[in-house]
Amino acid sequence: MKLDNFKYEKDADGIVTLTMDMPGRSMNVLSAASLKDLETAIGAISGDASVKGVVLTSGKPAFLAGADLSELGASAGGGAGPKDETERKKATFAAIYSFNMLVRKLETMGKPVAAAINGTALGGGLEVTLACHYRVCADDPRIQLGLPESKVGVMPGAGGTQRLPRLIGVVNAVPLMLEGKSVSPQEALRLGIVHKVVPMPALVSEAKAWLKSAPEPVQPWDRKNFSVPGGGPYDKDSSQAYIIGSALLRKQSYGNYPAQINILKAVYEGVQVPIEAGLRIESRYMTELMLSPQSRNMIRSLFLSMQELSKGARRPRGVAESDPKRIAVLGAGLMGAGIAYVSALAGIEVVLIDRDQPSADKGKDYSARLLDKDIERGRASPQKKADVLSRIHPTTDYSGLKDVDLLIEAVFEDRAIKADVTKRAEAVLRADAVFGSNTSTIPITSLAEVSERPESFIGVHFFSPVERMGLVEIIMGKKTGETALAKAIDYVKKIRKTPIVVQDSRGFYTSRCFGTYTREGISLLSEGVHPALIENIGRMTGMPMGPLEVSDSVGLDTALKIGRATKKDLGISEVDDMEKILAWLVEANGRVGRKAGKGFYQYNDKGRAAGIWPDLFAYRTDWRDDVDRDELRRRLLYIQAVETARCFEEGVLTDVRDADIGSILGWGFAPWTGGTLSLIDMVGTARFVEECEALAKAHGPRFAPPALLKEMARKGESFYARFAPPKAA
Ligand code: NAI
Repeated sequence: MKLDNFKYEKDADGIVTLTMDMPGRSMNVLSAASLKDLETAIGAISGDASVKGVVLTSGKPAFLAGADLSELGASAGGGAGPKDETERKKATFAAIYSFNMLVRKLETMGKPVAAAINGTALGGGLEVTLACHYRVCADDPRIQLGLPESKVGVMPGAGGTQRLPRLIGVVNAVPLMLEGKSVSPQEALRLGIVHKVVPMPALVSEAKAWLKSAPEPVQPWDRKNFSVPGGGPYDKDSSQAYIIGSALLRKQSYGNYPAQINILKAVYEGVQVPIEAGLRIESRYMTELMLSPQSRNMIRSLFLSMQELSKGARRPRGVAESDPKRIAVLGAGLMGAGIAYVSALAGIEVVLIDRDQPSADKGKDYSARLLDKDIERGRASPQKKADVLSRIHPTTDYSGLKDVDLLIEAVFEDRAIKADVTKRAEAVLRADAVFGSNTSTIPITSLAEVSERPESFIGVHFFSPVERMGLVEIIMGKKTGETALAKAIDYVKKIRKTPIVVQDSRGFYTSRCFGTYTREGISLLSEGVHPALIENIGRMTGMPMGPLEVSDSVGLDTALKIGRATKKDLGISEVDDMEKILAWLVEANGRVGRKAGKGFYQYNDKGRAAGIWPDLFAYRTDWRDDVDRDELRRRLLYIQAVETARCFEEGVLTDVRDADIGSILGWGFAPWTGGTLSLIDMVGTARFVEECEALAKAHGPRFAPPALLKEMARKGESFYARFAPPKAA
């Protein structure tokens, strides 16, 4: 028997150890090739009377990472399959169902199977073990067990929605699947997902010992009189899981995520019938999901593009890899302190400079506080704290810059101060060191004017809070060279964040497009749309907050200042309704936003929004709620997408992945869409252009589709077809 992805060893007791170990990959995945091998192995085992039992384990540090999402991504949304919808559905169902049935064979082939889980088993990886008769897991808290499919828009499709509730009850199983949360081996033992947890060296022997006890190779759900723990949908406890589950789902996701909805349906319908019928139901819902554009877009953006960008897909080829060991951070304020922390955490030495020693020390204290919190939560040891802190060197002395590979400037957002520190730093920096600016608004090209080496000057734009935000927007100035770009990407990779690369422009990409959302919200308010309606519709589009709440976070004083400056640039002197309402809040009422604990919202003493400020309702008596909700939804979402399309047309963006990932990671753009450009592709370019033109006519030229979009609409093109990202080398 020829197996490429498994080792097949039979011992003297007739126990076969099937060790999954895919060649040339760091992790095992369920791909067409590995499933074919599994089928061959199952065939051989079931036809061999001398086999008494099977141990399924892995030769990699992780047990099995789940389905191969690159294969799944290619077939999602219909992929390259048949054009006819019915045929496409049939072909997709056939593929999903046959996979499900292959896994089913593990538990029905008449030989007992024990999973020896030596490492993380997620998604399809855990589902395969659920089809084993016994699960023993190594006692290592780093191991994660879970069904996280819904996080990337997919659902468990290898029996997970059927076996997990039958194993641990609907009440425990449903939240794990809806939230995609994984658990440690000990937690899995407590929940009944695994039978035993043993030290790693005893893993396989424990599995063999169980097999030697001559267990009956029958799953609980294949026995007579089986009932689901906690009961079916009509039993008291389980029914709560559906009622509360549906309500929570609605509250948290407003029906935007088909994966979660389909999981709930598959469980509800599936547990009422025998397992085989349940598996067929699951395959039907999985088929529906895989053909949905949301699922395709989410897999593509949240998994594939994210992975490609994080691995450095945007790094120029031909520049040698670099490994920054020592960097400098100039300015130890909110951003600088966070940048120092994430860098030191990644093992990089950090020279942290500020105007005076207490300010520099304060920047280092930020790391100490974060590490203390981690220690409190059992996520870090005092030793780790000492190690990380030993790498941060707070000082006022620029001579420490002489041997750094990279510098990140994060002083005040003031052109003159930035020019001054650039000159002082460059006098000391090594010739090959990169100068990165964390400016949020000043064009990189103009900051680089004072630089002696503009080819090494680049924007490295972090998001706040640095330790939590996964994105870094790298901005190319007019003269920035490829070596600086490569080195900046190498650094971002090292601190385990995802880099996108954009060209210089006011607000770059993320701030520019994100600002359209808040402005549209305030514009709606100035038109007299009821604030509660604006906020609710904002959240219903899938944005993490309503536009007024987001405006509070940014600062209403800032919004007022920017609005006035823009009007001045355009030569407009008239005070419009938008300015009036902001001036009323900021200047008449001192409500500058979250930082003051008062803005559009009122805030509790923990700084959390506690409802819209009641007096805002009194601002006028004729609030409108007779507006077209769908149009409101379109205004709030499309304004961000159409601005992204403009960035693409202007060359600020050059890669569709940067646009989509930047929008989701940078400002939380509705993840169910797959990102701003994926949204346009999902709506269809022609329809999107038509709807934007209607919005432009009704509400102003900010909605007018750019020429590129109109041309694409005419030609029937989508962004991902016309600007398909290059395949990985
Ligand atoms: P901050 O005011 O918290 O920190 C600035 C720090 O720079 C202060 O510690 C100050 O003492 C120090 N500083 C000022 N002049 C200096 C000089 N001549 N030499 C050395 N240190 C000096 O400001 P924050 O929020 O950290 O912003 C820093 C930069 O990051 C700005 O360019 C800002 O636009 C940008 N940024 C801010 C974000 C935010 O959410 N706050 C997000 C992304 C970028």
